[in-house]
Amino acid sequence: MPSTVLVGTQWGDEGKGKICDLVASEFDCVVRYQGGNNAGHSIKVGDKKFGLHLVPSGIMYETVTPVIGNGVVIDPKVLLEEIDLLESNGVSTKRLRLSTNAHLIMPYHIDLDGAFESQMGKNLIGTTKRGIGPCYQDKMARIGLRVQDLMDEAIFRERLAIALDRTNCLLDKVFGLPTYTVDQICETYLAYAERLRPYVCETGAFLNEQLEEGKNILFEGAQATLLDIDHGTYPFVTSSNCTAGGAIPGSGVGMKSVTRILGIMKAYLTRVGSGPFPTELAFETPEGETLTQVGGEYGVTTGRRRRVGWFDGCIGRYAARVNGLTHIALTKLDVLSEFDTIKVCVAYDVDGKRYTTVPEYADRFDRAVPVYEELPGWKEDISGCRSFDELPANAQAYVRYIEKLVGVPISIVAVGPDRTQTIMCGWE
Ligand code: GDP
Ligand code: IMO
Ligand code: MG
Repeated sequence: MPSTVLVGTQWGDEGKGKICDLVASEFDCVVRYQGGNNAGHSIKVGDKKFGLHLVPSGIMYETVTPVIGNGVVIDPKVLLEEIDLLESNGVSTKRLRLSTNAHLIMPYHIDLDGAFESQMGKNLIGTTKRGIGPCYQDKMARIGLRVQDLMDEAIFRERLAIALDRTNCLLDKVFGLPTYTVDQICETYLAYAERLRPYVCETGAFLNEQLEEGKNILFEGAQATLLDIDHGTYPFVTSSNCTAGGAIPGSGVGMKSVTRILGIMKAYLTRVGSGPFPTELAFETPEGETLTQVGGEYGVTTGRRRRVGWFDGCIGRYAARVNGLTHIALTKLDVLSEFDTIKVCVAYDVDGKRYTTVPEYADRFDRAVPVYEELPGWKEDISGCRSFDELPANAQAYVRYIEKLVGVPISIVAVGPDRTQTIMCGWE
């Protein structure tokens, strides 16, 4: 299998973890390239279910080397808890590699995430409050701390003093929050350092060596296209490039090494946090309630109820363009089995003008009125189907309709959370 980027095409939670776990065994390495523990990727293998936040979903296979790339932001406490959880469930983490250049989430990033959100009042982003935005902010401001700094106490203390000079002013003078001392943070972080040391690696060099040896890499995106800092519904986005292109700077490999881009697309839409959502269904509507309950649409990271809505072809086309999708995995098709008819948004009307993709002016997207087509449902349990031909005719027609609307072949269809509940129809 050629090296591939796996990317979310909507607002996250499309089932990236499930599909990543499904295809990971065909690769030598699985690499996370951006985001942090704002991600929640669920994997279900038999009766075991894992919610991973930082460790790549390839961890389940002994033949795969899971890598946390330089573009990821690491909360060391969360990473160590996740390692412990996996180990206690019999999943070895010995092969895991952690980039020297990944930035560290510090306790003050978490404080500031909460403080910034409170200050925004009704305009809040609805972040996961894991310190992601403030950590990337410090990275860009060049006062961040990296995994490599943590590996050397003297360097760590020196870099931390510089960061605290600025951050303590903000905490104290702007928000009236408690400040930190270097010693106070060192007490916990230096203990993390010793536990993390065996995993630390120059991952950029390692991945390039792997490619030279003819091995292949799966890049596991977190968040999704519309949460991308550049291409998403700004300002209601996360603070990294989650689109496929982010895999290159976020891991340190050259562009020519990637030939496949697999977009993960849910058969309907969800969103957590604030921001526009043209096809949203109110929770109180029967359709909204059905998608929430049948789809189990509650966040893996924060437990928040996800907003739900019909599939949006404008977003699908936009994701195809921004990521250069070559394949699609359509997930959660089984959830739509409940409906007599299924709506699909094929265009937007904005101030009398028709759009077939996401308008780049945010205010136009805010005012977008979906134009729907209504497709017949199939009202049949499809969770046991294992080939495309086994799907009821109307389910097949729905898949083909989405494929045509988005303009990219659908080569995987997921009909349940388990690894086995999948139809391969062109992924080879
Ligand atoms: P991710 O963030 O993109 O990895 O997605 P999440 O794991 O946050 O959310 C997807 C949820 O849907 C998880 O609970 C998965 O177990 C579940 N899931 C994934 N694919 C399917 C599917 O095809 N059908 C159903 N019913 N559930 C699925
Ligand atoms: P996975 O990888 C869904 C959303 C938050 C918020 C915005 C910014 O599981 O798909 P942040 O904490 O990143 O600063 O929050 O982004 N968000 C996600 N929504 N799935 C995710 O990850 C998300 N990660 C962040 O809800 O709206
Ligand atoms: Mg998720």
